[in-house]
Amino acid sequence: MLLNHVSTVFTAYLWQQTSFHDVVALEIETFWGALASQRLSWISPFNTVQNCNFSQGKIKWFEGGKLNVSVNCLDRHVHTCPERVALIWERDEPGTEVKFTYRELLELTCRLGNLLKRLGVRRGDCVTLYMPSCPLAVASMLACARIGAVHNVVFAGFSAEALADRIRDTQSSTVITVNQGVRGGKVIDLKRTVDQAVQNCPSVQQVLVAMRTENSVAMTDRDVPLEEYVFSYQDGDVFGCMADIGWITGHSYGVYGPLCNGGTTVLFESTPVYPDPGRYWETVQRLGISQFYGAPTAIRLLLKYGDEWVQKYDRSCLKTLGSVGEPINREAWEWYHRVVGGGRCPVIDTWWQTETGGICIAPRPSDPDAEIIPGMAMRPFYGIKPALLDAKGEVLHAHDSTGALCISMAWPGMARTIHNDHQRFIETYFQPYPGYFFTGDGAYCSKEGYYQIVGRLDDVINVSGHRLGTAELEDVVVCTIKCVYVFVVLKKGVEVQEDVLAQQLREMVSRNIAKYASPDYIQVVGRLPKTRSGKIMRRVLRKVVERKTDDLGDLSTLDDSEAVHEVIRGHQRLH
Ligand code: WTA
Repeated sequence: MLLNHVSTVFTAYLWQQTSFHDVVALEIETFWGALASQRLSWISPFNTVQNCNFSQGKIKWFEGGKLNVSVNCLDRHVHTCPERVALIWERDEPGTEVKFTYRELLELTCRLGNLLKRLGVRRGDCVTLYMPSCPLAVASMLACARIGAVHNVVFAGFSAEALADRIRDTQSSTVITVNQGVRGGKVIDLKRTVDQAVQNCPSVQQVLVAMRTENSVAMTDRDVPLEEYVFSYQDGDVFGCMADIGWITGHSYGVYGPLCNGGTTVLFESTPVYPDPGRYWETVQRLGISQFYGAPTAIRLLLKYGDEWVQKYDRSCLKTLGSVGEPINREAWEWYHRVVGGGRCPVIDTWWQTETGGICIAPRPSDPDAEIIPGMAMRPFYGIKPALLDAKGEVLHAHDSTGALCISMAWPGMARTIHNDHQRFIETYFQPYPGYFFTGDGAYCSKEGYYQIVGRLDDVINVSGHRLGTAELEDVVVCTIKCVYVFVVLKKGVEVQEDVLAQQLREMVSRNIAKYASPDYIQVVGRLPKTRSGKIMRRVLRKVVERKTDDLGDLSTLDDSEAVHEVIRGHQRLH
């Protein structure tokens, strides 16, 4: 776990740098080895840079080396700049942000680490966190890392059952939570969900409970109240990653990356539309965010409300706009660039996954000559070697081709195993294309060698013998499914006749992609079923269209089941 975030550290660092493009030519091993020695403090130095073998699923980096990621995130900076702001906690209510310096964060982390030790948490034990993005959550992660425990951060929107599964899977003896969460003006009883979950988790011996609101909650013998913390204010360089710490983006770019680099990070507790659709940009103005990192789902949502919500606020502090999580369609990309960034800030569409630990394909804004093409993740990050493979497992050497996106050489931040199931790790990632790490995504590589992610391979649809990535279609309309079945969400306040809209969409797709891709069916819906992290659940839409609604698959990550019912009802009305 301690090493997992090493390449995150590098990508976050490189993202901030301006003169790194000359390292590309260096050998992978020299490259990672030099970064590891220069950018990190080691307790004992490593003997070998890497010892990896994809066909055996063996991933070993920096053997013999020992480091503590919390020391790298905190102590190093406390020595040089203790009063620099480490975290800005952007609380749900605008204008009530709280700042934490590196010194304060170190103190809180050490106090928590000592408490965990006193409560019997040992090296290798797993601690489950069920809490919103807040300084205490970050301190809890770092405290675990500090004492050698593993943290299992469960997104605080998950149900009691989903939480219980994850606690049982990791055999956690300790859970850390808050009495209540606050999101979009609503209060959510997190402690009550934990109470329900731990009823079926015999491993749990203690639940640490912090107070996020003033409302008291019922405490049991198992519960340990956590005392409150101190605040202070200071200016800093501000990294605004909007992702919740319950997702990998929150781990790598909300916590470990910015802190290891001595930056100031924003923990966003609220939603993009609370109290109104200007929230992100009002936050940018108030906190002086310089790198804003968000998800296409939020950008698409905000675009529907119009430009006024953005233009109301001063965004001159913004330098770079990042996007992650899904392909960003051209309309959203252009809006982000033109309206949010005022045409001034590079938009970087960053492709990566939980398994990769950090950004793998992204444009390089640091390179003044590098062009950025809307909707393209562009170039492999330093030290990453992608390859596209065809259905037979052959590498596609020519550019201008589409295939399964694989990575041919190991990098330090990559996953090493699946907890309790190493065999599944090997089968999922290394067996589909022997000798390669398989990402599950499809990608197109242009003549210039630029990459565009076309979506999950299981979302790719086969129309009249042509393989179409849903991303490509969504670029033209915003759409899905074997005959082409398009779900349309209209912008706010737009009213159209559905048959006129259908005709227009068919013409657009025929013109911009091809006739065979023209939609067979079009259904206007109020919203789409999404995961709690905002990804559209296309496989659910496919089942609706195939009328297999009694077999919708795993819905544990579905955000709001009513969205599925609405889509089903609309489908039944139409057909
Ligand atoms: C998708 C999130 C297109 C992709 C960091 C990947 C993207 C999955 C992009 C991982 C992007 C992520 N363009 N698709 N820029 N970024 N994805 O594990 O399908 O939550 O495999 O990690 O999201 O999602 P995860």
